[in-house]
Amino acid sequence: RWATHGEANDVNSHPHKVGSVTIVHNGIIENYIELKKLLEKEGYEFKSETDTEVACAVLDYLKNKKLWNNLEIIKEFSTYVKGSFALGIIFDDELDTLYATRCDSPLILGLGKNETLIASDIAAVIKFTKEYISLDNNDIVKLTQDKTEVYNKELELSCKEKQTVNWNIEQAEKGGYEHFMLKEIHEEEEVLYNTINEYVDTMETFLQKMPDFTKYKKIHIVACGSAMHAGLIGKYLFENYSDIETSVEIASEYRYKKVFYNHNDTLVILISQSGETADTIACLRKAKENGIDTLAIVNVVSSTIAREADKVLYIRAGVEIAVATTKAYLLQVAMLMLVNLKMMAEKSKIDDIELKATLNAFKTSPKVVKQILAQEDKYLEIAKMIHKDEDIFFIGRGIDYAISMEGSLKLKEISYIHSEAYQAGELKHGTISLIEDHTKVISIMTDEDLYLKTISNIKEVKARGADVILLTTPSLDNDYEFADRKIVLPEANKYLVPMLSIIPLQLIAYQVAKLRGCDIDK
Ligand code: F6R
Repeated sequence: RWATHGEANDVNSHPHKVGSVTIVHNGIIENYIELKKLLEKEGYEFKSETDTEVACAVLDYLKNKKLWNNLEIIKEFSTYVKGSFALGIIFDDELDTLYATRCDSPLILGLGKNETLIASDIAAVIKFTKEYISLDNNDIVKLTQDKTEVYNKELELSCKEKQTVNWNIEQAEKGGYEHFMLKEIHEEEEVLYNTINEYVDTMETFLQKMPDFTKYKKIHIVACGSAMHAGLIGKYLFENYSDIETSVEIASEYRYKKVFYNHNDTLVILISQSGETADTIACLRKAKENGIDTLAIVNVVSSTIAREADKVLYIRAGVEIAVATTKAYLLQVAMLMLVNLKMMAEKSKIDDIELKATLNAFKTSPKVVKQILAQEDKYLEIAKMIHKDEDIFFIGRGIDYAISMEGSLKLKEISYIHSEAYQAGELKHGTISLIEDHTKVISIMTDEDLYLKTISNIKEVKARGADVILLTTPSLDNDYEFADRKIVLPEANKYLVPMLSIIPLQLIAYQVAKLRGCDIDK
């Protein structure tokens, strides 16, 4: 696994053993420095730079007190540590038993034939079984050759519901694609179809299936990373089309900041592919503790966020194995668009004729996705143009800025090229000094109301020598002399454009990473 503390080398790698305890750990122990100092006073010496070794030493320290049995030691452990953990634990005096526990990091039990597996995600063990149990915070699992026992935080034996995944091993394999990321981008057509099919049949059934938003005057969208970028698109839609004041909040900030809630009219929307992101879970709980209604847009069924939110809208992305999200992001945006249409209908901001036409456009959108995916040569050509650069800029205004943010994250995450997304009009206030001869600037220009303003900004970077790659729609396309390369999306309903625009950027990021020889899926 990636080292979260210290270099990725053998000493910092799992498992860690201290005294008579061995563990593997996913998560971050936030108070490990404090604990390390206390344990050093007790005579512990540490070999690695990891928080995990400290967690292991805490368990060994508790073991040496000889006050508790191994189950009780694990319970006690959770009162010492702050942060998130999913642990697999073996005690030297009980070598035939594997213990596991979790707090704010995901953990499941895969129920195989004559074997039980622990993992953070069913995808990791799908080769062995489709049946699993999701564990709750502070559950403790005790696995022996012939027994699987789950205890709750009071150490009472608990009976957990068994779940079965509705996708199969082929979906967890590359199926002829060179990388999972490429496979998952190509699945966008199908998963979009599946998701839309579930929510959009007739206009009447669509309106029934969507939650009732009439009482809300304020929305907080809370998420991390790409899910937060999807939220930025949601904000634009909710404010511009449905007239609802919306803020987009980064979960790791929102969970600690002062939030002014108004109980009667505020909705908190949590977006998460996994449904297990610790900061997003914390924000969900914060909203609930404050009596605020919560709605989750989630992919993984029965994940913590799905289970704890008041209402859930599932996207049907299937399993995402590549580390960079692609198809789930696309569906998060699609779902926000559907939510927006429902809110517009509730507020009579769209009439039945336009709503029906838009829903029909949604139904046919997988075909448009297919057309975009087919332009592979174009994306490769652009990738060849930029893959040797070390700094790339994405610019856009309004909703195009939200798209730029995601395009930029995708590129930097998998190709390791430094890239930044800027509101096109803001660039001139300082950062434009970084634009030199042949700096690549990817300009997103799909917003009909703002495109003339964006053109002025593109001309500014062009004047400083930038090479411009333009992503635009057929209606805004022209013979622009400033565009060194151009991607024109196929004809599509205006509500679909923000969702479709990301696909070329995902494929360019993929091709760039491949040309640079990066380990794309990881
Ligand atoms: C980027 C990426 C991450 C996730 C983020 C939230 O490619 O995958 O930024 O979007 O970690 O994860 P979820 O949606 O599972 O809460």
